[in-house]
Amino acid sequence: MSEFRHDVIFCFLGLLVWLTSLVEGKFQVQCYLPSWALNNDPVDSFKVTDLDPYGPCDVILYAFFKVADNKLASHDGKYRGHFAQLSILKSKNPDLRVMLSVGGWNNSREMTTMAGSAVNRSTFIASVVPNLRRFNMDGLDIDWEFPKAVEAHNYIALLKELREAFESEARRPTQDRLLLTAAVGNTVQTGYLAKEMNRWLDVVNVMTYDYHMYGSWDLMTGHNAALTDTVQSVLAWETAGIANTSLSLGIPFYARSYTVAPPTNVTGTIDFLDVGTSQPASGPGQPGVLTHENGTLSYAEVCSSIKNGWTSGRDKSARAPYARSADQWVSYDDAQSVTDKVVWAQEHGLQGVFIWHLGVDDVHGYCGRKFPLLNAVDQALIKPNVIPNVPPIKSASAILCSCAIFILFLTILQSYL
Ligand SMILES: *[C@@H]1O[C@H](CO)[C@@H](O)[C@H](O)[C@H]1NC(C)=O
Ligand SMILES: *[C@@H]1O[C@H](CO)[C@@H](O)[C@H](O)[C@H]1NC(C)=O
Ligand SMILES: *[C@@H]1O[C@H](CO)[C@@H](O)[C@H](O)[C@H]1NC(C)=O
Ligand SMILES: *[C@@H]1O[C@H](CO)[C@@H](O)[C@H](O)[C@H]1NC(C)=O
Ligand SMILES: *[C@@H]1O[C@H](CO)[C@@H](O)[C@H](O)[C@H]1NC(C)=O
Repeated sequence: MSEFRHDVIFCFLGLLVWLTSLVEGKFQVQCYLPSWALNNDPVDSFKVTDLDPYGPCDVILYAFFKVADNKLASHDGKYRGHFAQLSILKSKNPDLRVMLSVGGWNNSREMTTMAGSAVNRSTFIASVVPNLRRFNMDGLDIDWEFPKAVEAHNYIALLKELREAFESEARRPTQDRLLLTAAVGNTVQTGYLAKEMNRWLDVVNVMTYDYHMYGSWDLMTGHNAALTDTVQSVLAWETAGIANTSLSLGIPFYARSYTVAPPTNVTGTIDFLDVGTSQPASGPGQPGVLTHENGTLSYAEVCSSIKNGWTSGRDKSARAPYARSADQWVSYDDAQSVTDKVVWAQEHGLQGVFIWHLGVDDVHGYCGRKFPLLNAVDQALIKPNVIPNVPPIKSASAILCSCAIFILFLTILQSYL
């Protein structure tokens, strides 16, 4: 009898945990996985199988598909292999969700024509739903960079019609409703009708990065994603009408680099030790050995450079790190700044954080442990208060438990009547 009571207590606790998770919602970590980061390069290979299905990513967002002839389309055939491997991760951890991200910086122009009319949108939506199911995906992420003011209503119509299509499809009881998320800019531009977006989107991913990078408007060094700028953007989206429980804060794992211009009034040696932000730059930073891009480095490249003698510093007021060597200067995120962002997001009751992107963490462990930034995210998560000696109970068993308790309750009630 005491064992039976023990079981009932366990069931009851499981039910409580389950109900709490329904009410509170778990803080979510979303991880973007761009197809181009997956490769067999001998020095920089990165595969889906390098990912831990039980790691901190609750959601993996595969990026990007494009729009062609108003339909969802891929760039090449490699996605099939990637999707098969992602399905294997999902079969290992049934709580892991995988979503498909459409758009991105290079594929947003077709969004305008696709969203331009009801017919074009319905062509798109008719291609989305069956394909997501076929690919074993849990939802769609719209990464339209960026809807213009004249497109604001088309953007909302697209979100509304997608959401309605997902809801009517979900009435078939076998599967959960497909999720709908969107990546948005770090300022609330006129193309965004935030209150309407809040109505149709499950999550709004605020791309809180690229505040500064070398370019026509930035001829001075600046932080790519200081905590101060990040907080300001998230609060602006909240003020505009997105609930904090629907907002996800973006954390860049890449860095922005500059070539600093030597001060013109100095002759002889230049001391770069004090070079921080707002220093005149003459161009983007030199390409990294792995990513080969002017002005952009991966965290793996930054941490390797620091290991090899670059000097790193921290801007205490902006709460952001930077590093430099001779005329090269880089703004990046490290374990500390990542931690600060995850802590702030949790304190502020956000839906979660997302990272852009998995492939530019130190995936090979060049600087120590593999995936140092992803691990920093994990370490910063407030773990749910686990009741000692109670094994983690999954929602399915909690449902069974609640049914069992209900039947037990009816039986007891009947014996009294
Ligand atoms: C986007 O296009 C630019 C050129 O316009 C190219 O350099 C870059 O690699 C592209 N990015 C991706 C992710 O395809
Ligand atoms: C709808 O799609 C067609 C085919 O891509 C395109 O020619 C047309 O301009 C689109 N309609 C609108 C209103 O954008
Ligand atoms: C250059 O000159 C300005 C004005 O005199 C001075 O404030 C600044 O410190 C000088 N820069 C360097 C690097 O010496
Ligand atoms: C970087 O910029 C230099 C100078 O403008 C250019 O010659 C080079 O091709 C660029 N490299 C890459 C990888 O874009
Ligand atoms: C989240 O937003 C709600 C509604 O505006 C507010 O009541 C709550 O205090 C916010 N949570 C946090 C932790 O700021």
